Order: sequence, then structure tokens, then C-alpha cells
Amino acid sequence: MKALITGGAGFIGSAVVPLLKKEGYEIFVLDNLSFGNREFIDIPDSHFFPEDIRNAVKVSEILNKVHPEIVVHLAAIHFIPYCNKHPFEAADINIRGTINVLNACKQISRLKKFFFASTAAVYPICDGAVSENHEVMPLDIYGLSKLTGEHLCKKFWLETDIDTIVCRFFNAFGPNETNQHLIPEVEKQLHDGLRTIKLGNLTPKRDFIHTYDMASAVSKLLRLGDTGYDVFNLGRGIEYSVVEVVEAFERQLGEKIKIEVDPARVRKVERQHLLADVHKLKNKTGWEPLWGIDEGIRNMIQCWNY
Ligand SMILES: NC(=O)c1ccc[n+]([C@@H]2O[C@H](COP(=O)([O-])OP(=O)(O)OC[C@H]3O[C@@H](n4cnc5c(N)ncnc54)[C@H](O)[C@@H]3O)[C@@H](O)[C@H]2O)c1
Repeated sequence: MKALITGGAGFIGSAVVPLLKKEGYEIFVLDNLSFGNREFIDIPDSHFFPEDIRNAVKVSEILNKVHPEIVVHLAAIHFIPYCNKHPFEAADINIRGTINVLNACKQISRLKKFFFASTAAVYPICDGAVSENHEVMPLDIYGLSKLTGEHLCKKFWLETDIDTIVCRFFNAFGPNETNQHLIPEVEKQLHDGLRTIKLGNLTPKRDFIHTYDMASAVSKLLRLGDTGYDVFNLGRGIEYSVVEVVEAFERQLGEKIKIEVDPARVRKVERQHLLADVHKLKNKTGWEPLWGIDEGIRNMIQCWNY
């Protein structure tokens, strides 16, 4: 089966591409490398299209050339501080780009499944675990752009009857992270030899899910038959505070780490919790996450030696 992955040279793509390749899919990637890295993915140049999803003509040409059975749409900009500073660019890529990809997909007669990477940022602030039925109310332009993407996907499914899966990713961690989120920021400071590190808000908790576990969930979701339009959370179902993340680094390094709050990094508006209810994903696919925070961080630290 041919699978076209937009944004496949990015952080999550770098875990999804090798897994799907190993499972026998013929992989094609469309990525303008604005955040991704060609070296993250081992596919021939004939299967790599360095184009922008905002270019409707190119996107349509590529889809018609590849004629995939599966499209996984990961391309987006998603670093929330960047999106907040560049709202028009965020809307342009995440909404117009998604419209272009969906429009091109409508021309592909053999397309069996469309997969859209949405986000936990579609949910409002709340304390407990959120299930897919929870009300949606994004707090920022990024969440708003992805929620619009979800609506566009539903419209696409209504018009084409092609199985369409919306997957709300929670906080990814693992190798090849392209944006300076919490875990790579802590990792960078520690790798630089610091043992007193500067961070922003310390209390917020997040549901960190390893990209290898995300890739296996994506693979299982792609294999579900006759889904129609369906929405799934993808998280680990456990949340960790910033302090708990640093403690996991302490355990793996076997060294004490001191945290200093850097006022310049403190976000004024910050969710205290973001936790996935992943019962639906587990029940429908049998997926189970294998990578805890300690294993994932140990794996990162082991790579420092190479
Ligand atoms: N990383 C997370 O924690 C997280 C959480 C929720 C949702 N997501 C979603 O998952 C998807 C993948 O995220 P990621 O963490 O791998 O991010 P990433 O930035 O590493 O990957 C996105 C890829 O899309 C490419 N891209 C960006 N704009 C493009 C454009 N205009 N045309 C073509 N390619 C373009 C980038 O070069 C990059 O390779 C995104 O849709 C993101 O919104 C990620």
C-alpha cells in the first residue's frame, strides 16, 4: 500500500515513517522542511517532495503522481508561542494547507483512509482526563486552526465517504524534537553541563506520550476498517508536572538538579492540566503504550554518548 505522509520529515513523522515502512507500506513524504529534517527519514529522493502544502497546484500534482491508498496529514506549524506571534501564518498553513491537501485527496479514486493530526489544544482548560466527547474550546490560534481542520475533515468525509480519522495528539516526546518544548529544553541545558536549570512555570502537568508509542497508535488506527469519520485521543493517560519531568532526569542521570524560575519564561496564561482519556483508542485498537517517561528519558540520555 502506498502511504503519503505530509510533514513526514518532522518530529512525529520521524517515528511514524520508519514504523510504517517496516510494516510494508511504500512511503512518500511531502514536507517543505521548514521545521523538519530530510535526514530524519530514510526514503529515496524519488519518494520525497520538498513542497509547501499552501501550494494547491503542487499538492494536487504530487497526490496525482503518487496515487496513495493512505494519506497521513501531519504537516502544520504547532509551537504555540510561534503560532501566537504569527497567527496569519499559523492559519494559512494549518487551515489553507489542510484545505489543499483535502481537495487534492478528493481526486484520488483509490484513497481508502485519511488521517489528520489534531491536538489536545482543542480542549478547554479542565482538571480531569478529557475524553473525545468533552466540549471543545481552543484557547489559542493553534488550537483554533486544528479544530477548523477537524471540521474540514468531517466535511471531506461527508462529501467523499472516505474513512477519515482525526487523532488528537497530546504532548509528544522522544528523539528528533524540532521545537523547544519542555523536555528538549531540560535536555539541552543538562547536556550543556548545567545542573541548575532555568525554566518557566513549574506546576502545569502534561500527558507526555513517546513518539514510538504514537507511531504504533497511528499504525493501528490506519488498520481499522470502516471507521467512517471518527475522533481519537492519543496520549498516555498519565500526567507529569514540570518538576516531575526534571525528577525523571535526576533519576536517569543519578545527579541532583536544581530548578530556578526564569521570569522571562513564565507564561501568563497556562493550563494546569492536560490529560487524555485514552479508553476509546485502547478499546478499538488494542493499543497499549510501552514507553514511560523514565524509559524515554533514559533513551535520550543514552544517545548523548554517540
Ligand atoms: N509534537 C507535539 O507534541 C504535538 C502535539 C499535538 C499535535 N501535534 C501535531 O502533530 C503534527 C506533527 O507535529 P510534530 O511535532 O512532528 O511537528 P514538526 O514541526 O516536527 O513537524 C511538522 C512537519 O511539517 C512540515 N511543515 C510545516 N509547514 C509546512 C508546509 N507549509 N508545507 C509542507 N510541510 C510543512 C515541517 O517541515 C515539519 O517537518 C502536527 O500537525 C502537529 O500540529 C504535535
